[in-house]
Amino acid sequence: MKGKTLLMAAWGVIFAAGILFASDKDATVPSEPAQEAAAAKEYESFGDTKIVIMEAVKDMFSHNSHVVTAGISCESCHPSLFERKRGAGKAKGDYNHTSFDAGKYCGACHDGDAAFSTTGQQSCKVCHGSDMQQPEIIVFNRPVKGVVFDHKGHVDMGLNCASCHDKEFEMRIGAAEETAHKFHMQAMYRGQYCGVCHNGNIAFAANTRCTTCHIGIKGVEKMLKKKNGDFEKKG
Ligand code: HEC
Ligand code: HEC
Ligand code: HEC
Ligand code: HEC
Ligand code: HEC
Ligand code: HEC
Repeated sequence: MKGKTLLMAAWGVIFAAGILFASDKDATVPSEPAQEAAAAKEYESFGDTKIVIMEAVKDMFSHNSHVVTAGISCESCHPSLFERKRGAGKAKGDYNHTSFDAGKYCGACHDGDAAFSTTGQQSCKVCHGSDMQQPEIIVFNRPVKGVVFDHKGHVDMGLNCASCHDKEFEMRIGAAEETAHKFHMQAMYRGQYCGVCHNGNIAFAANTRCTTCHIGIKGVEKMLKKKNGDFEKKG
């Protein structure tokens, strides 16, 4: 793992040096792997110095497309918008669309002016790789069958996407069930998953009204039938 990261960093140096300093005769590319690694740590400023471009901080953000393709300087983002530390933004707790809308982080440029916006329905895919269509109803079947979560209902109550994503729930149906051994009532009573709110304070407690969430296999069948019925009536 570490070797691979270093190798990628090394390629970053070569790539960056090649593209940005093609005409800079003083630019040298270290030849020994050990030298490259040592040198990579120093190459952090932009200007007349060589730079390291760390590729793909997270899938959705690429230094290459911003620094090389769009020609943005390091100082436009570091340190005012982002620390030079992977995950630093996320650790602050407000790395979300509410902040982007207020012009922070990615939203400093992705406002539909300096760069494409974070609100255009067509844009979601460019960053997230999916059109981010929110599901209406989710039925959990692991570890027990027939637990219903009305996704649309919860959003319509006025809850923020960030109240659930990506802290307690990934934006991917089936993610929590992949670790079904952790997705249990004890966790909810401790305030995880649905228990963030279903604690008797924000919403009814998870140790009450079992059948409101656990509608069972029959309940799910009935719900789907009813939904299809409604749908047919409309169409
Ligand atoms: C368009 C904005 C932007 C520009 C321009 C930019 N960066 Fe970054 N950089 C980021 C983001 C976003 C992160 C991740 C921060 C986070 O996760 O909180 C990051 C992280 C880093 C990291 C940490 C990487 C890691 O794996 O821990 C380094 C080093 C870095 N940048 C160096 C640079 C250098 C050198 C330049 C100029 C060549 C540059 N950056 C230009 C946005 C930018
Ligand atoms: C410029 C890139 C960008 C675009 C465009 C974008 N997002 Fe995001 N989105 C992000 C980043 C960055 C995060 C924070 C990811 C993280 O926490 O690691 C995020 C997080 C989210 C979250 C989690 C909670 C929150 O409010 O932050 C949701 C939901 C979301 N995006 C939905 C959307 C939808 C829907 C669209 C299209 C209308 C969209 N995004 C367009 C970059 C983008
Ligand atoms: C300093 C301004 C600036 C910041 C901050 C910034 N971007 Fe960008 N971004 C741009 C520009 C300019 C482009 C290219 C022009 C365009 O497509 O509108 C771009 C293009 C992109 C693209 C399309 C190219 C590609 O890589 O596929 C993605 C995705 C993207 N940005 C994601 C992000 C995310 C995620 C963040 C926050 C972590 C972010 N950007 C922060 C200015 C910025
Ligand atoms: C009350 C909690 C909650 C809120 C609020 C919420 N979600 Fe979700 N969302 C979930 C859960 C739970 C899942 C399923 C996760 C799992 O199976 O592990 C999910 C899954 C998703 C998925 C994945 C769909 C798929 O087909 O895989 C998307 C996209 C999504 N949410 C978008 C949004 C958006 C956009 C918002 C804000 C408008 C939002 N969510 C608000 C709880 C929430
Ligand atoms: C961000 C807070 C939040 C999270 C997380 C959350 N809920 Fe809720 N939920 C609420 C609120 C608020 C209500 C309405 C108030 C009440 O009924 O006490 C509600 C109501 C409900 C209801 C009754 C109304 C309806 O939609 O039928 C069910 C069932 C329910 N939630 C299931 C779940 C399940 C299952 C999860 C986890 C997958 C979950 N909720 C996660 C806040 C949340
Ligand atoms: C707010 C919604 C909600 C309420 C209320 C709720 N549960 Fe659950 N329950 C879940 C979710 C979500 C899971 C995990 C997904 C799955 O098993 O399909 C789960 C899983 C379980 C499991 C299997 C995992 C484990 O903890 O052993 C049992 C058993 C269970 N619930 C019993 C109950 C009982 C008994 C009650 C009432 C005292 C109750 N639940 C109330 C949402 C709820």
